[in-house]
Amino acid sequence: MIPAPLLLTNVGQLLTLRSSQSGPRRGPFLSELEIVDNAAILCLGGKIVSVGTVKDALRDPWLKKNRKKVSEVDCGGGVVLPGFVDSHTHPVFMEPRLVDFEKRISGADYEEIAEAGGGIRASLEGVRTASQAALTQRVLHALHDLTKHGTTTVETKSGYGLSLDSELKSLEAIRAAAKQWAGTVIPTFLGAHVVPPGYRGRSQSYVEIVCKEMLPAVAKRKLAKFVDVFCDRGAFSEIECSTIFGAALQHGFGVRAHLGQLSSPRDGFIESMLECCRPASLDHMDHVRDHEVAALAKSDTVVTLVPGANYFLGLEQYPPARKFINAGVAVALATDYNPGTSPTVSMPMAMSLACTHMKMSPAESIAAATINGAWALGLADRKGSVEPGKDADLTVFDVRDYREIPYWFGVNRCVQTIIGGVALASPA
Ligand code: NIG
Ligand code: FE
Repeated sequence: MIPAPLLLTNVGQLLTLRSSQSGPRRGPFLSELEIVDNAAILCLGGKIVSVGTVKDALRDPWLKKNRKKVSEVDCGGGVVLPGFVDSHTHPVFMEPRLVDFEKRISGADYEEIAEAGGGIRASLEGVRTASQAALTQRVLHALHDLTKHGTTTVETKSGYGLSLDSELKSLEAIRAAAKQWAGTVIPTFLGAHVVPPGYRGRSQSYVEIVCKEMLPAVAKRKLAKFVDVFCDRGAFSEIECSTIFGAALQHGFGVRAHLGQLSSPRDGFIESMLECCRPASLDHMDHVRDHEVAALAKSDTVVTLVPGANYFLGLEQYPPARKFINAGVAVALATDYNPGTSPTVSMPMAMSLACTHMKMSPAESIAAATINGAWALGLADRKGSVEPGKDADLTVFDVRDYREIPYWFGVNRCVQTIIGGVALASPA
C-alpha cells in the first residue's frame, strides 16, 4: 500500500546530514549536521520529496493545492533527524544472562566467565530448544523497542545457535520478524561466534561445517547479506577468519568482523584483510595499532564502535575514537544489543557513552549513528540522511537542541518515529 502524503512541520532543528561529498563521513566532516531551523519535510510514497523551512513549504504550489490530502505531524519545535541506523545487533536470543552479570559484579571478567561455560555458550541451549515462532517473537519485540528509541534500520546477527539447524532457524526468525516490522532489517550470519561445545580443541572441524554446510544453506535460502566472524582470543583465529571470509565472498556475501575487542589481532592481519576482503565494517576495535589506523583511513571499511559493551562489562578503557576520527577513519556507532555485553536498544545511550567516554562531540555521535551506520550496511543511497529521494525514515526528539540527544541519558526523549513515510504511534 502506498502511504498517504505526510508533512512534518514545526521542526525546531532539522538535522539533514546531507553532504556534497561522496563516501562515509570522515575527519571534520563527521560533525557537519547541515541543520535547518524552523523546518518542514514533505514525504510522498514513502520517500522524502522536499526539505526546507516551514515558510518554503507553505509556498510550495503542490502543497497549497493538495493540503487536504496531506496528513501532518506537528513536531512541536523539537529536533528531527534521520532514523538511527543501528549497524550491529544480536537480537536472536531467549534469556538475559543474569548469572554472568552477577559473576562479573563479583569480579570475574568476560573471558573467565566464557571459559567456565558462561558467555555466548550459555545462550545456546535457549536458542536450540526454542521454536522458530518463539524466536521470532523475541526478535520482533527487540525491533519494536529499537523503534521506540528512534531506530529505523537494524543489522541483526544470528550466532546463538551454532549448529546448521539452529542458525537457519535464527535467520528464519529474523526474516519472519522483519516482515512484521515497518523498518529495514539487514540480516547477518554469525555462525562463527564461538566454537560450540563438542568442537572444543578441534575448531577446524567446526570452521569446515560453517564453510561447507552452513554458508551454502544460508546462501541458498537468501537468509543473510553479510557474514560476520568473532575473530579474537577465545573465539576464532585470524586464519580461521580468513578461511570463512574466503568462502563467504565466493557465495556472494559481504563480510564484517568482531575484531580487537579482547586482544590485538596478529600484526599485518588488518591490512591483509582490507586488501583481500574489503570488509564493510570492523567492529569493537578496542585494540588497534597506529599503522592499522592509517590503513583503515585509506579504506572504505567503516570502524563500528560499540561503547555499550565497554560500559556493561565495566571496563575503564574504551575504543580510541579520537585516534580513528583524527586520522580520517570512517567511524559508526551501534548498540551491539546482546544478552552478554550490551543489553541496550538505545542508540542515544551509545551516543552518550561515545561523548563521555570516547570524547566524540555530540555532532560526531549523531553522524556516526545515522549516515555512517548506513555506509556500514551499504545503504547510504537510501538511509541515514534527510534528503529528497531518500526513504522517509525519521525520528522526532522532544528537545530544543540536538546536543540534548546524547546529553540526557537513562531517559527516552524520542517521541515519534516515522518509517517509510508513515508516522508510528508515539512511544509515550
Ligand atoms: O559483540 N564479542 C562477541 N559478540 C558479542 C557478545 C556476545 C555475547 O556475549 O553474547 C559482542 O560483544
Ligand atoms: Fe557484537
